[in-house]
Order: sequence, then C-alpha cells, then structure tokens
Amino acid sequence: MTARIIDGRAIAAELRARVASRVAGLGFRPGLAVVLVGADPASSVYVRSKNRAATEAGLATESIRLPADTSQAELLAVVARLNADPAVDGILVQLPLPPQISPQAVIEAIDPAKDVDGFHPINVGRLAGGLPSLVPCTPLGIMKLLAAADVPLSGARALVLGRSAIVGKPIAALLLAANATVTIAHSRTRNLADECRRAEVLIAAVGKLEMVRGDWIGKGAAVIDVGVNRRPDNKLGGDVAFAEAAEIAGAITPVPGGVGPMTIACLLENTVTAAERRRRPVPPG
Ligand code: GUN
Repeated sequence: MTARIIDGRAIAAELRARVASRVAGLGFRPGLAVVLVGADPASSVYVRSKNRAATEAGLATESIRLPADTSQAELLAVVARLNADPAVDGILVQLPLPPQISPQAVIEAIDPAKDVDGFHPINVGRLAGGLPSLVPCTPLGIMKLLAAADVPLSGARALVLGRSAIVGKPIAALLLAANATVTIAHSRTRNLADECRRAEVLIAAVGKLEMVRGDWIGKGAAVIDVGVNRRPDNKLGGDVAFAEAAEIAGAITPVPGGVGPMTIACLLENTVTAAERRRRPVPPG
C-alpha cells in the first residue's frame, strides 16, 4: 500500500467538536427536525445516527416518525408546521420516500432557509450560480476531506463519476468553484477507465460495488469513494476496489470510515449555519 488513508472518522470528529463549540457560543440551541416516513432499516439507522450526533453537539432535535402509508398531503402538513416553528432551524426529510409521495414536492415545500440538505431548487440554483447557499452534506463533507488531506484543487483535473442531484452535480459545482477542471462521467460515458486514469482527483459516486478497479486510477491521484454498497457477505464496500486502488493512488478514503461520517457532521454544521443566518438580528436602518 502506498496511498495515504484519509481518515473520515477523525476529520468528522474534529468538525463535530468545532460545531459543538459554535453551538455553545450561540446562547440558544439550534433546532433540527428529522422526518422519517416508514421503517426502511437503512434509513432508520441513518436517522438514529443523525439524531444522536445532533444531540451530542448540543442541538435540540425533534424526531418525527410517520407510518409508511402517510399521504403526501399529510407529510406536506408536517413540513408546513416545521417551516412555521421558530425553534426549528433545520428540516431534513429522509429519502427515499414511499411511492405515493413525490420527493420533489416535499423538497420544494421546505423553507429554503431551513433546507439543511441543500436540495431545494433555490439552494441548488444558488450553488450553481456560485452564491452563498446551504450545500448538500455529502459534497460539503468531500470538500472538507480534500482540504484536510491538503489535496490541491486549483487547476487540477477532477473527474466526478456519477451525476446524481445529491452528490454528482453539487460536488462538480464545488470543485469548479475551487478552480478545478471538472469532468462529469456517467453510465453513458465512453472509455470510462481512460477518463478515470486522467484524473488527479477522482470522486466515485455510482453505487456499484468496486466498479472502479486499481488500473483505472492515475498514479498519485486523490480518490474519494462515496459508494455505500452491500457485499455478498453483508459487509459494506465502496465503489472503488480499495486494496488495488491504494497501490496506485496518492490518497484514498476507506468505506466505511471515509465520506459517511462527514455527511452527518456537515448536517450539524449546516443546521448551525442556518440558525445563525435565520436568527441574525437585522441591522438597524
Ligand atoms: N438518504 C440518503 N442520503 C440522504 C441525504 O443526504 N439526505 C436525505 N434527506 N436523505 C438521504
């Protein structure tokens, strides 16, 4: 193994501690509401982790569990109540939602100022325009991992593998804002392996277990693995064949213990940012 391992657990712990001290200095407890519809086991685990981390950082959390047969109108009514509640600074509706509910309708109903997922079209547009916005947690976490690992981005060739609204598109916008030369590759891209090999920074976010092989990696590249996939033995694995890639990469994130812990830490940070912006006193005049 030659690559440096980027330790997401340690970097996330430092971020959570910084968030906790920001909260302690505020004089009030920012509120985070997490809504879970149904009992999907993976979503339940994520929601529990988010609530625990929020409480540890000193946030006030409200956890709302609704049955799987909740109607879209009922969920929209919950969102409207949270939008109107001055104690709630951040609203997260865990995805995926049951089939009778349109995720886009729910996302668009959330007050953009409380949209700690950064999924509302206002925040998506502000990010694309290079304006201050609430940034989706996983891409924000990736940028912090790259910064903590001292990966140079200005002028670097970055390849984003995957074009989802949650990861691919926003991380491409953030890398571009950091002056990287960004390519977005996807399932229709020709010569995917060649595209990957040219990259100095490779973000793998496709959701296919170990699709990126060691010989797809450029020598010395920084590799961020966003994949969370089940192996046949039920353990978690990334989108990158880690052992092969670590022979060639300069730095690499493991799965688990890379991007995942950063996503939750960034949710806490977004909640504090939303609270500071919403509650900032309006200057006189
Ligand atoms: N489900 C998987 N990832 C996410 C996320 O980042 N936010 C929400 N709301 N749901 C998710």
